[in-house]
Amino acid sequence: MTNWIQGKVVERIDWNERLFSLKVDAPVDPFVAGQFGKLGLEQGGERVQRAYSYVNAPHQPLLEFLAVTVDEGELSPKLHLLNAGDELMISSRPNGFLTLDEVPAGRELWMFATGTAVGPFLSILQSEDCWDRYESFILVYAVRHSDDLAYLELIQSIVAKHPQQFRFVPIVSREDHEGSLRGRIPELLKQGAIQEKAELPIKPARSQTMICGNPDMIRDTTAVLEEMGLRKNLRRTPGQITVEKYW
Ligand SMILES: Cc1cc2nc3c(=O)[nH]c(=O)nc-3n(C[C@H](O)[C@H](O)[C@H](O)COP(=O)(O)OP(=O)(O)OC[C@H]3O[C@@H](n4cnc5c(N)ncnc54)[C@H](O)[C@@H]3O)c2cc1C
Ligand SMILES: NC(=O)c1ccc[n+]([C@@H]2O[C@H](COP(=O)([O-])OP(=O)(O)OC[C@H]3O[C@@H](n4cnc5c(N)ncnc54)[C@H](OP(=O)(O)O)[C@@H]3O)[C@@H](O)[C@H]2O)c1
Repeated sequence: MTNWIQGKVVERIDWNERLFSLKVDAPVDPFVAGQFGKLGLEQGGERVQRAYSYVNAPHQPLLEFLAVTVDEGELSPKLHLLNAGDELMISSRPNGFLTLDEVPAGRELWMFATGTAVGPFLSILQSEDCWDRYESFILVYAVRHSDDLAYLELIQSIVAKHPQQFRFVPIVSREDHEGSLRGRIPELLKQGAIQEKAELPIKPARSQTMICGNPDMIRDTTAVLEEMGLRKNLRRTPGQITVEKYW
Protein backbone atom coordinates (compact mmCIF):
# COMPACT_ATOMS: atom_id res chain seq x y z
CA MET A 1 0.00 0.00 0.00
CA THR A 2 1.31 3.41 -0.91
CA ASN A 3 1.48 5.85 1.98
CA TRP A 4 0.60 9.26 0.55
CA ILE A 5 1.72 12.55 2.05
CA GLN A 6 1.32 16.11 0.89
CA GLY A 7 4.17 17.98 -0.75
CA LYS A 8 4.49 21.62 -1.71
CA VAL A 9 6.10 22.88 -4.91
CA VAL A 10 8.84 25.31 -3.90
CA GLU A 11 10.24 26.09 -7.34
CA ARG A 12 9.83 25.15 -10.97
CA ILE A 13 12.45 25.34 -13.69
CA ASP A 14 11.43 25.47 -17.35
CA TRP A 15 14.13 23.99 -19.58
CA ASN A 16 11.97 24.45 -22.66
CA GLU A 17 8.25 24.58 -23.49
CA ARG A 18 7.60 20.98 -22.41
CA LEU A 19 10.56 19.99 -20.23
CA PHE A 20 10.50 21.15 -16.62
CA SER A 21 11.70 20.42 -13.10
CA LEU A 22 9.77 20.72 -9.87
CA LYS A 23 11.44 21.20 -6.52
CA VAL A 24 9.17 19.85 -3.82
CA ASP A 25 9.22 20.11 -0.04
CA ALA A 26 7.87 16.90 1.52
CA PRO A 27 8.96 14.73 4.47
CA VAL A 28 9.50 11.49 2.51
CA ASP A 29 11.39 8.51 3.92
CA PRO A 30 15.12 8.33 3.21
CA PHE A 31 15.92 7.05 -0.30
CA VAL A 32 18.93 5.71 -2.13
CA ALA A 33 20.28 7.67 -5.11
CA GLY A 34 18.70 6.31 -8.31
CA GLN A 35 15.32 5.52 -6.76
CA PHE A 36 11.94 7.04 -7.59
CA GLY A 37 8.81 8.19 -5.79
CA LYS A 38 5.21 8.46 -6.95
CA LEU A 39 3.56 11.81 -7.58
CA GLY A 40 -0.21 12.12 -7.59
CA LEU A 41 -2.91 14.70 -8.27
CA GLU A 42 -6.62 14.38 -7.54
CA GLN A 43 -8.81 14.47 -10.64
CA GLY A 44 -12.57 14.12 -10.38
CA GLY A 45 -12.29 12.45 -6.97
CA GLU A 46 -9.61 10.01 -8.14
CA ARG A 47 -5.87 10.18 -7.70
CA VAL A 48 -3.81 9.92 -10.88
CA GLN A 49 -0.32 8.73 -9.96
CA ARG A 50 2.92 8.08 -11.82
CA ALA A 51 6.53 7.28 -10.96
CA TYR A 52 9.22 10.02 -11.05
CA SER A 53 12.90 9.59 -10.25
CA TYR A 54 14.56 11.81 -7.68
CA VAL A 55 17.11 14.10 -9.33
CA ASN A 56 18.45 15.36 -6.01
CA ALA A 57 20.93 13.39 -3.96
CA PRO A 58 19.56 11.85 -0.75
CA HIS A 59 21.35 14.39 1.47
CA GLN A 60 19.78 17.40 -0.29
CA PRO A 61 16.70 18.70 1.55
CA LEU A 62 14.39 19.53 -1.38
CA LEU A 63 13.10 16.75 -3.63
CA GLU A 64 13.62 17.45 -7.31
CA PHE A 65 11.89 15.85 -10.31
CA LEU A 66 12.54 16.31 -14.04
CA ALA A 67 9.48 15.73 -16.23
CA VAL A 68 8.32 16.19 -19.79
CA THR A 69 4.77 16.90 -20.93
CA VAL A 70 3.41 14.00 -22.93
CA ASP A 71 0.59 15.49 -25.03
CA GLU A 72 -1.76 12.53 -24.70
CA GLY A 73 -0.68 11.77 -21.12
CA GLU A 74 -2.96 11.88 -18.11
CA LEU A 75 -0.68 13.27 -15.41
CA SER A 76 2.31 15.03 -16.97
CA PRO A 77 0.32 17.92 -18.58
CA LYS A 78 -1.22 18.60 -15.15
CA LEU A 79 2.14 18.52 -13.37
CA HIS A 80 3.30 21.02 -16.00
CA LEU A 81 0.69 23.49 -14.74
CA LEU A 82 2.00 23.47 -11.15
CA ASN A 83 3.73 26.53 -9.74
CA ALA A 84 5.52 27.44 -6.53
CA GLY A 85 3.04 27.20 -3.66
CA ASP A 86 0.89 24.49 -5.25
CA GLU A 87 0.38 21.18 -3.46
CA LEU A 88 0.61 17.62 -4.75
CA MET A 89 0.56 14.13 -3.30
CA ILE A 90 3.75 12.14 -3.01
CA SER A 91 4.47 8.60 -1.85
CA SER A 92 6.48 8.64 1.35
CA ARG A 93 8.29 5.40 0.53
CA PRO A 94 10.90 5.26 -2.27
CA ASN A 95 10.99 2.47 -4.85
CA GLY A 96 13.36 1.11 -7.44
CA PHE A 97 16.55 -0.81 -8.04
CA LEU A 98 18.51 1.51 -10.34
CA THR A 99 20.97 2.03 -7.52
CA LEU A 100 24.69 1.40 -7.16
CA ASP A 101 24.00 -1.29 -4.54
CA GLU A 102 22.53 -3.40 -7.34
CA VAL A 103 25.51 -2.97 -9.69
CA PRO A 104 28.52 -5.30 -9.41
CA ALA A 105 32.06 -4.00 -9.14
CA GLY A 106 34.01 -2.98 -12.24
CA ARG A 107 36.46 -0.38 -13.47
CA GLU A 108 34.07 1.93 -15.28
CA LEU A 109 30.39 2.67 -14.78
CA TRP A 110 28.55 3.72 -17.94
CA MET A 111 25.20 5.48 -17.46
CA PHE A 112 23.00 5.62 -20.56
CA ALA A 113 19.92 7.88 -20.45
CA THR A 114 17.33 9.19 -22.87
CA GLY A 115 15.36 12.34 -22.06
CA THR A 116 14.18 12.73 -18.48
CA ALA A 117 15.95 9.51 -17.45
CA VAL A 118 19.10 11.53 -16.86
CA GLY A 119 17.48 12.31 -13.48
CA PRO A 120 18.41 9.20 -11.46
CA PHE A 121 21.99 9.36 -12.73
CA LEU A 122 22.27 12.97 -11.58
CA SER A 123 21.08 11.85 -8.16
CA ILE A 124 23.81 9.19 -8.08
CA LEU A 125 26.49 11.58 -9.37
CA GLN A 126 25.56 14.19 -6.75
CA SER A 127 26.00 11.63 -3.97
CA GLU A 128 29.51 12.05 -2.68
CA ASP A 129 29.76 8.40 -1.61
CA CYS A 130 29.52 7.13 -5.22
CA TRP A 131 32.99 8.25 -6.26
CA ASP A 132 35.04 5.55 -4.56
CA ARG A 133 33.06 2.74 -6.22
CA TYR A 134 34.48 2.94 -9.78
CA GLU A 135 37.60 4.41 -11.41
CA SER A 136 35.50 6.27 -13.98
CA PHE A 137 31.91 7.31 -14.52
CA ILE A 138 30.58 8.08 -18.00
CA LEU A 139 27.21 9.80 -18.44
CA VAL A 140 25.75 9.29 -21.94
CA TYR A 141 22.70 11.55 -22.27
CA ALA A 142 20.63 11.37 -25.47
CA VAL A 143 17.87 13.80 -26.46
CA ARG A 144 16.08 14.85 -29.64
CA HIS A 145 17.05 18.53 -29.74
CA SER A 146 19.82 20.51 -28.08
CA ASP A 147 17.35 22.47 -25.96
CA ASP A 148 16.20 19.16 -24.44
CA LEU A 149 19.58 18.87 -22.67
CA ALA A 150 18.70 19.80 -19.07
CA TYR A 151 21.04 20.36 -16.12
CA LEU A 152 24.08 21.18 -18.29
CA GLU A 153 25.45 23.56 -15.64
CA LEU A 154 25.15 20.90 -12.96
CA ILE A 155 26.81 18.35 -15.25
CA GLN A 156 29.65 20.77 -16.02
CA SER A 157 30.12 21.35 -12.29
CA ILE A 158 30.50 17.58 -11.82
CA VAL A 159 33.06 17.52 -14.66
CA ALA A 160 34.95 20.36 -12.92
CA LYS A 161 34.85 18.58 -9.56
CA HIS A 162 35.92 15.17 -10.91
CA PRO A 163 37.91 15.94 -14.08
CA GLN A 164 39.82 12.64 -14.07
CA GLN A 165 36.94 10.40 -13.03
CA PHE A 166 33.91 11.76 -14.86
CA ARG A 167 33.18 12.00 -18.60
CA PHE A 168 30.10 13.43 -20.25
CA VAL A 169 28.89 12.30 -23.69
CA PRO A 170 25.87 14.31 -24.86
CA ILE A 171 23.93 13.03 -27.88
CA VAL A 172 21.43 15.04 -29.93
CA SER A 173 19.51 12.92 -32.41
CA ARG A 174 17.66 15.40 -34.59
CA GLU A 175 20.08 18.27 -35.20
CA ASP A 176 23.80 19.00 -35.26
CA HIS A 177 24.99 20.42 -31.95
CA GLU A 178 28.54 21.44 -31.16
CA GLY A 179 30.16 19.12 -28.64
CA SER A 180 27.42 16.48 -28.95
CA LEU A 181 27.34 13.31 -31.01
CA ARG A 182 24.49 13.03 -33.48
CA GLY A 183 22.41 9.83 -33.70
CA ARG A 184 21.09 7.18 -31.35
CA ILE A 185 22.87 5.36 -28.53
CA PRO A 186 22.80 1.81 -30.03
CA GLU A 187 24.17 2.81 -33.44
CA LEU A 188 26.78 5.14 -31.92
CA LEU A 189 27.92 2.31 -29.63
CA LYS A 190 28.14 -0.06 -32.58
CA GLN A 191 30.25 2.46 -34.49
CA GLY A 192 32.46 3.00 -31.41
CA ALA A 193 31.71 6.75 -31.46
CA ILE A 194 30.61 6.88 -27.81
CA GLN A 195 33.65 4.90 -26.64
CA GLU A 196 35.91 7.19 -28.72
CA LYS A 197 34.40 10.34 -27.21
CA ALA A 198 34.75 8.90 -23.68
CA GLU A 199 38.25 7.60 -24.52
CA LEU A 200 37.34 4.28 -22.90
CA PRO A 201 36.51 0.81 -24.24
CA ILE A 202 33.46 -1.27 -23.27
CA LYS A 203 34.40 -4.81 -22.25
CA PRO A 204 32.67 -7.32 -19.97
CA ALA A 205 35.75 -7.71 -17.75
CA ARG A 206 35.85 -4.03 -16.81
CA SER A 207 32.59 -2.26 -17.72
CA GLN A 208 29.33 -1.96 -15.81
CA THR A 209 26.37 -0.27 -17.52
CA MET A 210 23.12 1.24 -16.29
CA ILE A 211 20.47 2.09 -18.89
CA CYS A 212 17.36 4.15 -18.20
CA GLY A 213 14.50 5.74 -20.14
CA ASN A 214 12.86 4.90 -23.45
CA PRO A 215 12.13 1.12 -23.53
CA ASP A 216 13.00 0.80 -27.22
CA MET A 217 16.37 2.41 -26.57
CA ILE A 218 16.92 0.02 -23.65
CA ARG A 219 16.07 -3.00 -25.84
CA ASP A 220 18.31 -1.89 -28.71
CA THR A 221 21.19 -0.79 -26.46
CA THR A 222 21.04 -4.06 -24.50
CA ALA A 223 21.27 -5.99 -27.78
CA VAL A 224 24.39 -4.07 -28.84
CA LEU A 225 26.04 -4.50 -25.42
CA GLU A 226 25.24 -8.23 -25.51
CA GLU A 227 27.00 -8.43 -28.88
CA MET A 228 30.03 -7.00 -27.05
CA GLY A 229 29.82 -9.83 -24.52
CA LEU A 230 28.02 -8.04 -21.67
CA ARG A 231 25.11 -9.78 -19.92
CA LYS A 232 22.00 -8.61 -18.08
CA ASN A 233 22.57 -8.07 -14.38
CA LEU A 234 20.13 -10.18 -12.39
CA ARG A 235 20.30 -10.87 -8.67
CA ARG A 236 20.58 -14.63 -9.37
CA THR A 237 23.12 -14.19 -12.15
CA PRO A 238 25.14 -10.98 -11.87
CA GLY A 239 26.07 -9.31 -15.14
CA GLN A 240 26.99 -5.93 -16.56
CA ILE A 241 23.67 -4.46 -17.79
CA THR A 242 21.26 -2.94 -15.21
CA VAL A 243 18.12 -1.28 -16.60
CA GLU A 244 15.05 0.75 -15.66
CA LYS A 245 12.28 1.33 -18.21
CA TYR A 246 10.20 4.50 -17.94
CA TRP A 247 7.24 3.03 -19.82
C1 LIG B 1 10.40 3.80 -12.59
C2 LIG B 1 9.91 4.98 -13.38
C3 LIG B 1 10.49 6.23 -13.20
C4 LIG B 1 10.05 7.32 -13.97
N1 LIG B 1 10.64 8.53 -13.80
C5 LIG B 1 10.26 9.58 -14.58
C6 LIG B 1 10.90 10.85 -14.47
O1 LIG B 1 11.79 11.05 -13.64
N2 LIG B 1 10.48 11.84 -15.30
C7 LIG B 1 9.48 11.64 -16.23
O2 LIG B 1 9.15 12.59 -16.97
N3 LIG B 1 8.87 10.46 -16.34
C8 LIG B 1 9.22 9.44 -15.54
N4 LIG B 1 8.58 8.24 -15.66
C9 LIG B 1 7.38 8.19 -16.53
C10 LIG B 1 6.19 8.74 -15.73
O3 LIG B 1 5.86 7.81 -14.71
C11 LIG B 1 4.95 8.96 -16.61
O4 LIG B 1 4.67 7.82 -17.35
C12 LIG B 1 5.12 10.14 -17.55
O5 LIG B 1 5.30 11.37 -16.84
C13 LIG B 1 3.88 10.33 -18.43
O6 LIG B 1 2.74 10.32 -17.63
P1 LIG B 1 1.31 10.61 -18.25
O7 LIG B 1 0.25 10.23 -17.29
O8 LIG B 1 1.26 12.04 -18.71
O9 LIG B 1 1.26 9.67 -19.50
P2 LIG B 1 1.28 8.09 -19.52
O10 LIG B 1 -0.08 7.62 -19.88
O11 LIG B 1 1.89 7.53 -18.28
O12 LIG B 1 2.31 7.85 -20.70
C14 LIG B 1 1.91 7.98 -22.06
C15 LIG B 1 3.10 7.74 -22.98
O13 LIG B 1 4.05 8.79 -22.84
C16 LIG B 1 5.36 8.33 -23.16
N5 LIG B 1 6.25 8.66 -22.01
C17 LIG B 1 6.05 8.39 -20.70
N6 LIG B 1 7.05 8.88 -19.94
C18 LIG B 1 7.89 9.49 -20.78
C19 LIG B 1 9.10 10.19 -20.59
N7 LIG B 1 9.64 10.39 -19.37
N8 LIG B 1 9.74 10.67 -21.67
C20 LIG B 1 9.21 10.49 -22.89
N9 LIG B 1 8.05 9.86 -23.15
C21 LIG B 1 7.40 9.35 -22.10
C22 LIG B 1 5.21 6.86 -23.43
O14 LIG B 1 5.04 6.70 -24.83
C23 LIG B 1 3.95 6.49 -22.71
O15 LIG B 1 3.38 5.33 -23.20
C24 LIG B 1 9.00 7.15 -14.91
C25 LIG B 1 8.41 5.89 -15.07
C26 LIG B 1 8.85 4.82 -14.33
C27 LIG B 1 8.20 3.47 -14.54
N1 LIG C 1 4.69 17.68 -30.03
C1 LIG C 1 5.97 18.03 -30.03
O1 LIG C 1 6.41 19.01 -30.62
C2 LIG C 1 6.91 17.18 -29.25
C3 LIG C 1 8.25 17.48 -29.28
C4 LIG C 1 9.12 16.72 -28.51
C5 LIG C 1 8.62 15.69 -27.73
N2 LIG C 1 7.30 15.41 -27.74
C6 LIG C 1 6.75 14.37 -26.85
O2 LIG C 1 7.42 14.50 -25.61
C7 LIG C 1 7.64 13.21 -25.05
C8 LIG C 1 9.06 13.10 -24.63
O3 LIG C 1 9.94 12.95 -25.71
P1 LIG C 1 11.52 12.90 -25.47
O4 LIG C 1 12.15 13.48 -26.68
O5 LIG C 1 11.87 13.45 -24.14
O6 LIG C 1 11.79 11.32 -25.34
P2 LIG C 1 12.10 10.20 -26.43
O7 LIG C 1 11.06 10.21 -27.50
O8 LIG C 1 12.30 8.95 -25.66
O9 LIG C 1 13.50 10.63 -27.14
C9 LIG C 1 14.70 10.79 -26.39
C10 LIG C 1 15.86 10.23 -27.19
O10 LIG C 1 15.71 8.82 -27.30
C11 LIG C 1 15.97 8.44 -28.64
N3 LIG C 1 15.37 7.16 -28.99
C12 LIG C 1 14.08 6.90 -29.25
N4 LIG C 1 13.92 5.58 -29.57
C13 LIG C 1 15.17 5.03 -29.54
C14 LIG C 1 15.68 3.72 -29.79
N5 LIG C 1 14.90 2.69 -30.15
N6 LIG C 1 16.99 3.53 -29.67
C15 LIG C 1 17.80 4.54 -29.31
N7 LIG C 1 17.39 5.79 -29.07
C16 LIG C 1 16.08 6.04 -29.18
C17 LIG C 1 15.45 9.59 -29.45
O11 LIG C 1 16.01 9.53 -30.75
P3 LIG C 1 15.15 9.95 -32.06
O12 LIG C 1 15.10 11.44 -32.08
O13 LIG C 1 15.96 9.35 -33.17
O14 LIG C 1 13.77 9.34 -31.92
C18 LIG C 1 15.94 10.77 -28.62
O15 LIG C 1 17.26 11.08 -28.92
C19 LIG C 1 7.18 12.20 -26.07
O16 LIG C 1 5.93 11.70 -25.65
C20 LIG C 1 7.02 12.97 -27.35
O17 LIG C 1 5.96 12.47 -28.11
C21 LIG C 1 6.45 16.13 -28.48
